[in-house]
Amino acid sequence: MHAATIRDGELHVMEHPDPEPGTGEVLVRIRAAGLNGADIMQLRGRYPAPPGEPADIPGMELAGEVAALGPRAGRFSGGDRVMGLVGGGAQAELAVVNERVLMPVPVGLSWDQAGGAPEVFTTAHDAIFTQAGLRPGEHLLVHGAAGGVGTAAVQLGRATGARVTATVRRPELRDQVAALGAEAIDPEGFGAHGPFDVILELVGAPNLAENLNALALGGRISVIGIAAGAKGELNMAVLMGKRGRIHGSTLRARPLEDKAMTARLVERSVLPLLAAGTLHVPVASVYPLDRVADAYERFAAGGKFGKIVLHMPDS
Ligand SMILES: NC(=O)c1ccc[n+]([C@@H]2O[C@H](COP(=O)([O-])OP(=O)(O)OC[C@H]3O[C@@H](n4cnc5c(N)ncnc54)[C@H](OP(=O)(O)O)[C@@H]3O)[C@@H](O)[C@H]2O)c1
Repeated sequence: MHAATIRDGELHVMEHPDPEPGTGEVLVRIRAAGLNGADIMQLRGRYPAPPGEPADIPGMELAGEVAALGPRAGRFSGGDRVMGLVGGGAQAELAVVNERVLMPVPVGLSWDQAGGAPEVFTTAHDAIFTQAGLRPGEHLLVHGAAGGVGTAAVQLGRATGARVTATVRRPELRDQVAALGAEAIDPEGFGAHGPFDVILELVGAPNLAENLNALALGGRISVIGIAAGAKGELNMAVLMGKRGRIHGSTLRARPLEDKAMTARLVERSVLPLLAAGTLHVPVASVYPLDRVADAYERFAAGGKFGKIVLHMPDS
């Protein structure tokens, strides 16, 4: 098979042996695979793949058809359309994936949309519902809302009956984020739009002090992205006074059990809304596998609305 391959800090498309599914695993013929910030960090040598995942083939989400089943894999049949989160190796023509982390592709989703859906909808759903317990009628703030996770979180917040405010630093993207159902604002002075019951932090530590000040009583801050900085000063008196909570989370390094649990929750709560057209996967650009380096460059340049997706050659 061909796969995007990291060699000495550069991306190439190289030939690799076809992987073979082991017990409980499915061989997926990949049609599309979304890019994520973690891929860019892996390329730069700052985020190695977890043990057991291909070390040199990046990619954390995929969509494709079931090509073969390993021993005791029984959730899917040959030819089924599946998608899911993997620890690495998604930017390839083939991958083996434990069947428990795979989900069916909702009817109506194109391959490119499906390839860009698992990481951002799983991350957003886990952060704002499982971790932060967002409830209907509450006020959700999403920082960095024009990207993949942000566009997913805004839509999930609206779909559950929350009021959603979204910071978007590029004025030209605010209308598109507003069309998802949020009040899209300049990050400058965002606190004036609070108080917020839940804050999804996708940007990082520079927002910490204002997040705390703008937190409602009993509010929750969920830290998922820290590209703008990881270290800040925490005023514990404000945190106490708000009876607030701050927690952080990552998905990639979680054990299989945990990932399977998040997949079941997304299957139950998110996939029906994608199938009904209530939720959308905004795809900013699609690149063929042989232009993987251009796709990474586009992702790193920023200023996109939604996802960058790699499309695999038709076999
Ligand atoms: N913890 C986890 O499990 C997990 C899972 C998925 C993602 N993440 C992280 O969460 C973050 C969001 O992921 P994503 O997939 O949505 O990424 P993305 O598609 O690249 O979107 C990031 C968004 O944040 C904005 N942004 C970046 N730096 C900013 C800054 N300094 N000030 C204001 N806005 C800024 C970007 O704006 P521009 O386009 O203008 O740059 C973009 O709209 C990333 O850092 C990613 O690595 C973590």
